[in-house]
Amino acid sequence: MPIIVEGQSAVAETLANAVGQHASIVSNLEELKHQLASNEHEYAIILGPGVDLEAAAALAGTLRVTRPPTSVILIRRRVDTSVLAEALRSGMREVVEERDLTGVGSAVTRAAQIFEALSGSTQVALDGPRGKLITVFSPKGGVGKTTLAVNLSLALGGHGKKRVCLVDLDLSFGDVAITLQLFPARTLADAVPMEAGLDIGLLETLLTPHRDELYTLVAPVQPDARDAIPASLVGKVLRLLKANFDFVVVDTSPGFDEHVLAAFDETDELLLVTMLDVPTLKNVKIAAETLDLLNFAKDRRHLILNRADEKVGLTPEKVESTLEMKIDASIPTSPQVANSTNSGEPILGTLPRHAVSRAIAALAGDLAGLPESSNIPAPRSSRVAPPKRALLRRNSR
Ligand SMILES: Nc1ncnc2c1ncn2[C@@H]1O[C@H](COP(=O)(O)OP(=O)(O)OP(=O)(O)O)[C@@H](O)[C@H]1O
Ligand SMILES: [Mg+2]
Repeated sequence: MPIIVEGQSAVAETLANAVGQHASIVSNLEELKHQLASNEHEYAIILGPGVDLEAAAALAGTLRVTRPPTSVILIRRRVDTSVLAEALRSGMREVVEERDLTGVGSAVTRAAQIFEALSGSTQVALDGPRGKLITVFSPKGGVGKTTLAVNLSLALGGHGKKRVCLVDLDLSFGDVAITLQLFPARTLADAVPMEAGLDIGLLETLLTPHRDELYTLVAPVQPDARDAIPASLVGKVLRLLKANFDFVVVDTSPGFDEHVLAAFDETDELLLVTMLDVPTLKNVKIAAETLDLLNFAKDRRHLILNRADEKVGLTPEKVESTLEMKIDASIPTSPQVANSTNSGEPILGTLPRHAVSRAIAALAGDLAGLPESSNIPAPRSSRVAPPKRALLRRNSR
């Protein structure tokens, strides 16, 4: 994500809006050096009008040698020939007037393209180690898919320890944004015109962060936007995300549509969600048979029983024998789950020791190959240090 260096916060915020993506803001060059030390994949540094020209030129001169793919963009209140000459000498790629906000956005887009061209980072990312893609699926609506997908994403992320992207593939009626109280500027629908040239740099501009814990790619706001999204695009998006995140969690619509089938092709672990009622069980049974027809490997399917403690005459044993599958995780019923959905605060964040949170954290641990304890986040109030901002690009794993 681009870094803006500017001491005046109002000016920095205006520049951040002009960048049109998630930029981070630092107030001076010293802070910038710290931030760059932990991020070798930065593609744009925007030096605001408050940064001294001489210091800006010195920095650009150094970065030209140490990080050739990174662009330095200089913002000045007024651009005259002496500023341009200094910028040129030091190796800055762009000089833009402060009030030319469109120009700032375009300069950042060009910086991303230069970075991709010079570092071949997209190719490296696609060829590099792959993250795990976990799809949460059920043929029935209202069984807890979104609840599980959201809380599981938080558990897998461990407050920014792992890079996680949650994708809402319930393209007509997706609830991820509302469940996390997000106000996304972009959705998957914005990827449609980009499909041919889509790379991780462009895809990054469509992601919405949830605090510092995870990224989301949310569903379109209009239900009919789904029809314009080709299944091929879903596959491409998921492959790019998989190559750049430790975990990609996919929430789905109930039923096998073309988008969900495209997700199955990229899925490493499939969570099949059921509940203790006969209609759901019947439909999950049919879904399991459909997965057989699709040749979806049995050892990558995991049965999740939600509302597992409800006394409704059907037992977990009956579920296992009907589906001929072992239950991998049981999540109890609790009014606090519904409360958390309605307040936009996932239960794993607010009540990490709750039985529901523990069940989901244990499942996350299994999926990540970790002991349960390492996946239960500390309650917000007792955190020692703020979480590190999750880096979108993969450094090493
Ligand atoms: N274990 C639980 N205990 C209590 N309430 C739950 C539990 N799991 C889910 N719920 C509630 O059930 C409702 C439906 O859950 P959710 O939206 O996660 O289901 P879904 O399968 O994603 O539904 P849809 O198919 O409509 O997208 C929500 O109000 C949620 O809070
Ligand atoms: Mg849902």
